Amino acid sequence: MERIAVLTSGGDSPGMNACIRATVRRALGRGLSVLGAKKGYEGLIDDEFTAMSSSDVSNIIQRGGTILHTARSPRFLEAEGRARAAENLRNRSVDGLVVIGGDGSFRGASDLFNEHSIPVVGVPATIDNDIWGSDLTIGYDTAVNTALEAVDKIRDTAAAHDRLFIIEVMGRSAGFIALEVGIGTGAEAVLIPETRTDLQAVCDKIQGRIRRGRTSNILIVAEGDEAGNAFEIAAKIFDLSGLKSRVTVLGHVQRGGSPTTADRVLASKLGWAAVEALMDGAWPCMVGEVDNTVVRHPLADSWTNRKALDPLLLTLSDNL
Ligand code: F6P
Repeated sequence: MERIAVLTSGGDSPGMNACIRATVRRALGRGLSVLGAKKGYEGLIDDEFTAMSSSDVSNIIQRGGTILHTARSPRFLEAEGRARAAENLRNRSVDGLVVIGGDGSFRGASDLFNEHSIPVVGVPATIDNDIWGSDLTIGYDTAVNTALEAVDKIRDTAAAHDRLFIIEVMGRSAGFIALEVGIGTGAEAVLIPETRTDLQAVCDKIQGRIRRGRTSNILIVAEGDEAGNAFEIAAKIFDLSGLKSRVTVLGHVQRGGSPTTADRVLASKLGWAAVEALMDGAWPCMVGEVDNTVVRHPLADSWTNRKALDPLLLTLSDNL
């Protein structure tokens, strides 16, 4: 192996830059040359590459976003797009590809390997934390802390006005962000896709609290909850109980910002590990961290298995 390429794909997450940095520096340290592909798989298809030196990744470990840019690439879902990507990689003598992203990005990487034998290694990076095979994904810790800080601020105004707030957090179809933010902010209820949502029970709980003089209440709603989005839930709660509320959707603020120490360190470990996996011929695989140990899994395991929520967190959320 003499040359590798690296890309970031799908929704950005804080720590992607730290991972690019580790990948580039470890590859250079192993005597490889490195190309960065721009805008994820779009860059592979359009032959948009840039040579990466050690100084190109200086001063980025603390930056959110991704210096390589990212995209969701409909063209890469088509066999024709993947064939062009493989041809461009071959023409540039790329021997292996590091894909930093989520499960959609890993499926694309897997197709590239299966159809064109391009060695691929995936690094899990998404704020949603919904990738099996790594206790945490790059960006999740930062996103949770960003959301937590915002909810703490909303708690102040909720308390001042004796109000009910319904706050929607991201997570796609997973409740990891909602659950930890709910526990961390002492939310009165957390609504997540993994558990059945009973809005009548939520109303009863809040009304009981109000009767006992607890007049500020916070509900955290994961965007994928089956009861609907935060505005729909607010309307349903009003219809069921007459409770009025204010709604805040935290949205993309959760994707930005400087990564936490935990995300920078995880990104550094996994960027390093991705290069090692390529050098060892371990493709197609995903690198992750389980119980503080860096691990490798067959790439497809990352989406054929579903990552479970910690039952203890569910108990804490329901009972504290
Ligand atoms: O996967 C990360 C994520 O932020 C999800 O939480 C959210 O559902 C989605 O991406 C939003 O995607 P986009 O930025 O393309 O609207």
